[in-house]
Amino acid sequence: MGLFDKFQTTATQYKALLEGIGRDPFGVSMDEMKGPTRAIVNGKEIVLAGTNNYLGLTYDDEAIAAAKDAIDQSGTGTTGSRFANGTYAAHRQLEIDLAAFLGFKHCMVFSTGYQANLGAISALAQPPEDVILLDADCHACIYDGAQLSGAEIIRFRHNDPDSLDKRLGRLGDKVNGKLVCFEGMYSMFGDIAPVKELIEVAHKHGAYALLDEAHSFGVFGDHGRGVCEAEGVLDQVDFYTGTFSKSLASIGGFVASNHPELEYLRFSSRPYMFTASPSPANVAAASAALARLKSDQSMRADLWRNAKRIHAAFTQLGFDLCAPESPVIAARLKGREQAFMAWNFLMENGVYVNLAIPPGTPNATSILRLSVSAAHTNEDLDAIINAYTALSEMLSAEAA
Ligand SMILES: Cc1ncc(COP(=O)(O)O)c(C=O)c1O
Repeated sequence: MGLFDKFQTTATQYKALLEGIGRDPFGVSMDEMKGPTRAIVNGKEIVLAGTNNYLGLTYDDEAIAAAKDAIDQSGTGTTGSRFANGTYAAHRQLEIDLAAFLGFKHCMVFSTGYQANLGAISALAQPPEDVILLDADCHACIYDGAQLSGAEIIRFRHNDPDSLDKRLGRLGDKVNGKLVCFEGMYSMFGDIAPVKELIEVAHKHGAYALLDEAHSFGVFGDHGRGVCEAEGVLDQVDFYTGTFSKSLASIGGFVASNHPELEYLRFSSRPYMFTASPSPANVAAASAALARLKSDQSMRADLWRNAKRIHAAFTQLGFDLCAPESPVIAARLKGREQAFMAWNFLMENGVYVNLAIPPGTPNATSILRLSVSAAHTNEDLDAIINAYTALSEMLSAEAA
């Protein structure tokens, strides 16, 4: 009995919220995929506006052909970790290609982006002499990596270089290694970090900067190299982490760096050494998507055009948006119940977005998180705007 007691309160609250709307926002099954922006759910076609398919490459012809080819050539799985039998020529080649694209000397491919952060952070910082400083809104995998390391963890205020400066200043010379972790674009609100200032502060105090560009790779910068490219500080980043599960439309993750010591992680990072490597199909699809990203800038242009249209429309409708224009457009609702109800209303109106509620959100906010794709057609965007227009009318009628 005792083992399950801790779930009771949350389970009861959750059940009450689900009964109110009659479907589970955290258990949606895409019964049939119809392309990068459409799926059948419960017999009805819906527009997908809560994916991370920023460049819309999940159905790219070249990526699909490369994945099929890789299965024919190398089979369906590697059945081993990077450290043992799970490193194929394609894993190595992708490391070389990612490093070259980003301008780093070293790169390691992991099985997921979660594991890339988990593996890099937990191996780089060690107790008792090292300290990890985290932006308060960092993704769970950054927190988990810090916890796995066992090193002391200090949080600084979200996107606040002064807060980081104060905390690093207080440490003085007491500690050995200092690792500062933050993200380019934050996944829930779509807000952008002041990466230039954060890196400057980190380096001023002799700390290393680890930047997770999971949501900004392929999206920001003239070449899609992320927020740090847009801000002209790509070469200042000590450790650049990323994922294949968003703009690269596959599964896997990576860490890139100019520090040759990154290679030590190959025999000291547990999340690298003790899990199977990404499958040949996943690696081939990510490689093909990377090639597409490098050669075709029009996808990023489409993405931003779509993001701007949605952001402008929602602003006009009066939604309380969490951040200026970016491909993640999150609207604040008044509490959990309203957010559940609004999420369900959008589903009934043919649009899937992400529902995010505390404790998974910053500042205990309840939000509808919409993410735009380059693959959204004008028809998709019209459907999204129509559904949000109806939602805004319904919320206004309720408030009156
Ligand atoms: C900021 C951030 N980092 C890392 C990850 C993990 O990526 P993956 O899906 O490859 O595990 C995510 C996933 O949502 C993320 O939002």
